[in-house]
Amino acid sequence: MGRLTGKVAFITGVARGQGRSHALRLAEEGAAIVGVDLCSQMDSVGYPMATPDDLAETVKLVEERDARIVATQADVRDLGALRTAVEAGVAELGRLDIVLANAGIFPGIGEVASTGAAFDDVVDVNMTGVYNTIEAALPQLLAQGEGGSIVLTSSVAGLSGRLNLAGNAGMMGYIAAKHGVVGLMRAYANMLAPQSIRVNSVHPGAVNTPMIVNEGFGALAAEHPVELSRLVHAMPVEMLEAVDISNAILWLCSDEARYVTGVTVPVDGGFMIL
Ligand SMILES: NC(=O)c1ccc[n+]([C@@H]2O[C@H](COP(=O)([O-])OP(=O)(O)OC[C@H]3O[C@@H](n4cnc5c(N)ncnc54)[C@H](O)[C@@H]3O)[C@@H](O)[C@H]2O)c1
Repeated sequence: MGRLTGKVAFITGVARGQGRSHALRLAEEGAAIVGVDLCSQMDSVGYPMATPDDLAETVKLVEERDARIVATQADVRDLGALRTAVEAGVAELGRLDIVLANAGIFPGIGEVASTGAAFDDVVDVNMTGVYNTIEAALPQLLAQGEGGSIVLTSSVAGLSGRLNLAGNAGMMGYIAAKHGVVGLMRAYANMLAPQSIRVNSVHPGAVNTPMIVNEGFGALAAEHPVELSRLVHAMPVEMLEAVDISNAILWLCSDEARYVTGVTVPVDGGFMIL
């Protein structure tokens, strides 16, 4: 018997990185997965984004764990598409218990990073996309009337302004959007507590995924050694692994955290204590 046996989790950005890791970790604990990912490139993002092949690989890996998954391509900026994905998942898997708003972009790389488009895109995906994800899932959670757990992926950049980069609209928008996610978390936690739907946010430090392990991010770090050196953990670890975030989320979604709501959980090797 797993810690999530019989539960169904809706996860955005499931094709690779942390989203895939969350799907696998929750599947190992008995959950079925409804997953979405954009699986295409955005102009303001200066590193390769996930592909349909990545999504297919997530499906394969979940199924290898003897778990069920309904995965589709959908954009978190499109509320209608998210609603369709949730409805299709619930039609096949029967219910919904957990929502992980994980999809995100980092448009702080290259020339486009200084443009308004970079700022707008990151707010649209990383903040409005989180709002859309919750709104798409809420009707099913409320109709079931059995509570639930919603975890929003913010960042240490959602708790601290330390990662600022002058003239980099993508980076400033990233920080703004990730702080905005905390506002959404608090408002929904407050609103949904009477229905026993818990809402929390996680705040990763640097995580070993293609979002920051890419040529463009390396060039940005080389160009801004002082500012980017602020992305250090207090503990002796250069980068966390995606599963470190998944394990914190697993706890937040399990009955072990049944009265934990409205909190910001850093998984950051002590970034926030520096
Ligand atoms: N990697 C880090 O160091 C780090 C640190 C703190 C927070 N985060 C956050 O963690 C989350 C996961 O990022 P990751 O590190 O796994 O990066 P990643 O780039 O590997 O994964 C992000 C996933 O989100 C998907 N996505 C992007 N835009 C989308 C959209 N509009 N609609 C649907 N899917 C979309 C991508 O296709 C990709 O599969 C993001 O919210 C990110 O901001 C990352």
